[in-house]
Amino acid sequence: MISQHTIQLVKDRMDIEEVVSDYVSLKRKGQNLWACCPFHDEKTPSFSVAPHKGIYKCFGCGKAGDSISFIEEHDGLNYLEAIRHLAGKYGIEIEETEQSDEQIEAQNEKDSLLIVLGFAKDHYRNLLTQSVEGKSIGGSYFRERGFTEQIIEKFELGYSLDQWDGFTKEALSKAYSEDLLEKAGLLVKKENGRQYDRFRGRVIFPIHNVSGKVVAFGARTLKKEDKPKYLNSPESDVYHKSKVLYGLFQAKQAIRQHDNCYLVEGYTDVISLHQSDIENVVASSGTSLTTDQIKLISRFSNNITVLFDGDAAGLRASLRGIDMILEAGMNVRVVVFPEGEDPDSYSRKLGTTAFNTYLNAESQDFISFKVTLFAKEAANDPVKKADAIKEVIQSIGVIPDPIKRAVYLKDSSKLLDMDESLLVAELNKLLIQKRRTNQKKEDRLAHETPSSEVIPELKEKSFDPDDSIVAQERESIRLLLNYGNEDLEEDYKLKDYLIEELREIEFITPIFKTIFEIFQEQHASGNMIDSQYFIRNASNEIKKEVIDLTAVRREVSPIWTDKHQIQIPHEQDFLDHTVYQNITRLKRNIVQKLIEENKENLRDVTDPLEMDRLFEIQKKLKASEMELSKVLGTVIPK
Ligand code: UTP
Ligand code: MN
Repeated sequence: MISQHTIQLVKDRMDIEEVVSDYVSLKRKGQNLWACCPFHDEKTPSFSVAPHKGIYKCFGCGKAGDSISFIEEHDGLNYLEAIRHLAGKYGIEIEETEQSDEQIEAQNEKDSLLIVLGFAKDHYRNLLTQSVEGKSIGGSYFRERGFTEQIIEKFELGYSLDQWDGFTKEALSKAYSEDLLEKAGLLVKKENGRQYDRFRGRVIFPIHNVSGKVVAFGARTLKKEDKPKYLNSPESDVYHKSKVLYGLFQAKQAIRQHDNCYLVEGYTDVISLHQSDIENVVASSGTSLTTDQIKLISRFSNNITVLFDGDAAGLRASLRGIDMILEAGMNVRVVVFPEGEDPDSYSRKLGTTAFNTYLNAESQDFISFKVTLFAKEAANDPVKKADAIKEVIQSIGVIPDPIKRAVYLKDSSKLLDMDESLLVAELNKLLIQKRRTNQKKEDRLAHETPSSEVIPELKEKSFDPDDSIVAQERESIRLLLNYGNEDLEEDYKLKDYLIEELREIEFITPIFKTIFEIFQEQHASGNMIDSQYFIRNASNEIKKEVIDLTAVRREVSPIWTDKHQIQIPHEQDFLDHTVYQNITRLKRNIVQKLIEENKENLRDVTDPLEMDRLFEIQKKLKASEMELSKVLGTVIPK
């Protein structure tokens, strides 16, 4: 237990402004300081700090208290842990009243997990600096990478011995339970009773939460043949991958100070940037940012600069992910590195000064970057130019602030060398569409609540091309999930056909888009994928959808079939036909939608040249609709 004396020292020293400032950036307005509340989602600040009273209060969600309760609430700690945290912050030495084992005292599981993870971190650190193997193998690896002693210490890097149970033995001897080690992801237990350390013969990158506690590890192998290259802790009660950013703890002060956060891909990028004197950097760990991670960053700054590897294909794939950051109301800049370079390799190549110069010189606003990228490709191709406009408008359309949107429209129209009013019209169309989809969603929700009345005629009368597209998207996914592994011809599976055909098509239904992307990704990496994969691994929402799509829909009673000796044809028997029809319908629906959109454009157009161009597009679309309809055997009379 912590002595009353220590608690009093902490209470005397703690300063609400300093404590809260570690998590959000406060702005003075009158007597109080204000920020967007870290406890609930908001865009305008209603969270206030009264420094002279030592308290905070949020007028939005009602949370209020002093420095201790702020830490308790924010970091999910109990009272004594919060005191410990504050003592650490202010360098106050903790006086213990009883010298009992901390891990036994810790009452709840989270505390125990954090303690054992901290123990593991110290263990790996010691091995790196003290053991022969650690020094020679781990140490020389880090030296080869150019990591300095200070950096290794700052990131608390470590080494795990190349043994089956070195760590487990050590931890058990310190009275940590096997159960706890397993829950912390440090011990792997197999069904056959075998068990071993998760991390063996690897250099260790501890992953800290925002208050500096180790919640997980990333571990890099030092042997070429070992797979995977980086092995990570599994999720646990204290580690949710989507809510943690590597390096944020070490970066948060600098992010606030520079009012900007660099975003990179991995551990080594973060560390190399620190070595180049850039400390406001975090890593998303390979995937695109989650909304939780964006929220984490926005506590410290509203500006993100994404550093892209020099790899054209990867860049393309990442563009969409950035819309999410814009959607959160943040400002996004980008820096692209030369082909084949990542921030880690390039910063080492250039050295600190040149690298900093490069970042400052190459950093550009995301929207202008995107416009320029697409404009270049579309230079002399009107159809591509239309695509470019769509792409750019997509990104501008997610920005919540209408003033920012207006500024971007103006800038983009210049870059694209076209009339601003055209872009405005395009954006309005998108916003209306969005509103309509939202409305539909709300309608659906209302539909599901028993109290509301539904008027079927009204709902069914209005024809919407999107509805037919959604139906066909659903059907594609259903076929993929149910029959993906069936052969259409010898060695040519249904999934190969569908993936090939759907590659060109952007799904409009988010959930089908996600399912397709996961499917495609797994398939591309050579993994076996089917509905079971989703049911085991996917989010609840996706799971539900997949179950829905794979449940057998119409069962013909076996008694009936037996009695009448009827062969019921199974869907499997004419899969090739079904899937071909599905894809063709989907394509036709999309073409029909484009025709409708183009018609609308034609209605608004005033420039005769533009009108010619749109008529040309209309002709092409009509021809393609005709082709597809022929295939489907439903030529529309004209
Ligand atoms: P790299 O493959 O460049 O890792 O991935 P590296 O350690 O720098 O290896 P070499 O020396 O270039 O061959 C860059 C980042 O991507 C993440 C890591 O965070 C790494 O820092 N990564 C990479 C993973 O998370 N898992 C992997 O399997 C590979
Ligand atoms: Mn690398």
